[in-house]
Amino acid sequence: IMRSKLMMVDGLPMSDIVAVHWQDIRNFQAKPGDVLIATYPKSGTTWTQEMVELIRHNGDVEKCQRAPVFERIPCLELMRCMPPDLETVNAMPSPRYIKTHLPFNLVPSSFWEHNCKVIYVARNGRDTATSYYHFDRMAIMHPDPGTWDQYLQRFMSGNVGWGSWYDHVKGYWEGKDKCDMLYLFYEDIKQDPITEIRRIMKFLGKKLPDATVEKIAHCTSFNQMKNNDMANYSTFPKEIIDQSEQKFMRKGQVGDWKNIFTVRQNELFEEDYRKKMDHTTLKFKVSI
Ligand code: A3P
Repeated sequence: IMRSKLMMVDGLPMSDIVAVHWQDIRNFQAKPGDVLIATYPKSGTTWTQEMVELIRHNGDVEKCQRAPVFERIPCLELMRCMPPDLETVNAMPSPRYIKTHLPFNLVPSSFWEHNCKVIYVARNGRDTATSYYHFDRMAIMHPDPGTWDQYLQRFMSGNVGWGSWYDHVKGYWEGKDKCDMLYLFYEDIKQDPITEIRRIMKFLGKKLPDATVEKIAHCTSFNQMKNNDMANYSTFPKEIIDQSEQKFMRKGQVGDWKNIFTVRQNELFEEDYRKKMDHTTLKFKVSI
């Protein structure tokens, strides 16, 4: 298999399949009413996309799951690599929901000019690194991750696709009061999905009956999504993500990092984490 390389664009390491279209991505024209779902990779993006979709379609599963999730809510960075392409997205009826992994400072300015809503989801760094390592083993769009120890070093130095996790979560945290943003945590959604679904509804100005909220929580549980071809990425282009060896819907748990971090790696991570996250009020739960 031909794996892609990382290239630096605007100070960010990015898959070359994305980097070659960088100008189109940066110049993307948002429209009033567009909603951005922003995350660092492996933070619960797909999960949030599915919750948001069901909220917007009043819990109507048939209407919502007529196509794979990555087609219904396109990824800003992949619009030149796979359907729906940029032209199709430009023609989508408003309000459009768009996914991005770009850091706060590289979100196309048109989103801010139109005061677009942003739903950000953050996941604790240890679980994100763990999930990203497993993901990069199947992500043809990224270099081979090598050993876990090598990968963890790269993750800590920010030399992975979409750059530093530390800068990403802090960038949106600091940006949240400058725009219309709901900042969510993977760990909170896992612990109490109903409450977080209600917070998303409130943010989007949506009211739904209790039974519908419960139905949305059920349909977006890990097992339901894992077994649903419209949510589990099974139809995603194999040239970008190859799931023949392992699955995109991997474990969906908080604290899985404990199965891969050695005691030594955890100590090094902690020491480095303190330095990088010292001056922020952002706090994560690393296990429930
Ligand atoms: P793991 O690799 O830890 O299992 P993203 O969508 O941002 O790429 O994030 C993928 C991660 O979210 C994977 O984590 C995946 O299993 C997890 N995930 C996807 N759907 C989920 C759900 N309904 N509940 C909990 N975790 C989910």
